[in-house]
Amino acid sequence: MYKELLETAKESALQAGKILKKGYGTTFKIDNKVGRNNLVTEFDLLSEKTIIKNIKSRYPTHRFLAEESGHSGSEDKNEIIWVIDPLDGTVNFAHSIPIFSVSIAAMMNNEIVAGAIYNPMLDELFYASRGEGAFLNDKQIVVSDSDDIHTSLLVTGFPYNVDKNPYDCVGTFVKIVLKGIPIRRLGSAALDLAYVACGRFDGFWEAELHPWDMAAGAIIVEEAGGKVSKFDGSKFDINSNTIAATNGIIHKQILEAVN
Ligand code: IPD
Ligand code: CA
Ligand code: CA
Repeated sequence: MYKELLETAKESALQAGKILKKGYGTTFKIDNKVGRNNLVTEFDLLSEKTIIKNIKSRYPTHRFLAEESGHSGSEDKNEIIWVIDPLDGTVNFAHSIPIFSVSIAAMMNNEIVAGAIYNPMLDELFYASRGEGAFLNDKQIVVSDSDDIHTSLLVTGFPYNVDKNPYDCVGTFVKIVLKGIPIRRLGSAALDLAYVACGRFDGFWEAELHPWDMAAGAIIVEEAGGKVSKFDGSKFDINSNTIAATNGIIHKQILEAVN
């Protein structure tokens, strides 16, 4: 049902990813946005322009919520909004660390119906549409079967205002580290979610993310059989201030750890 939207998300992510890969490791302009260490490069902007242009060429009336340009587009009678992070992992990209992605989701009537996340450095395209399962390149993916948080591999991230310690994100991190649980911090929330979906990680949590960091990843995790919620266990939506995404089996254990 959402096939066309998914194909457009995939195609746009691949196209933008190609641009990022070309720019990776070159010399480019880097600016600072609001918040310390919150960078934007000329490739964030180029990637976003390319994605929006491509989607608009197919769907001239659709609306957009994109990290660098905010809300745009006219009122769409189908209520479709594209939620776009043109470069998730900008700090990595700016430091020539090859862990970053493009994240694109389509929402219909406030529900995420399709999403694609592309890591151009590994040529890995994660995608899903509602009711159709989740995939990595052409292979269907499912979440892990780990049932104990203590033997799980977890991932998290920190917001740019980590110095204000929102949601006691530092305390939560320390608490989980002190349980002896291995934790990674990749620097791309979209990839964190994609890796939960394909079973590389068993669980992810983070506070103060933005809609474009989470929208595509949330549907990919759910379609891979995982669970996504806010820290308090209530229903996730793209405006949630907190997100926990797991294989489902350890979800309760993660919520206990982060609360
Ligand atoms: C950031 C990354 C990072 C997360 C930050 C995000 P950006 O996005 O997803 O993993 O910890 O909170 O803002 O700025 O690279 O698009
Ligand atoms: Ca982001
Ligand atoms: Ca970004």
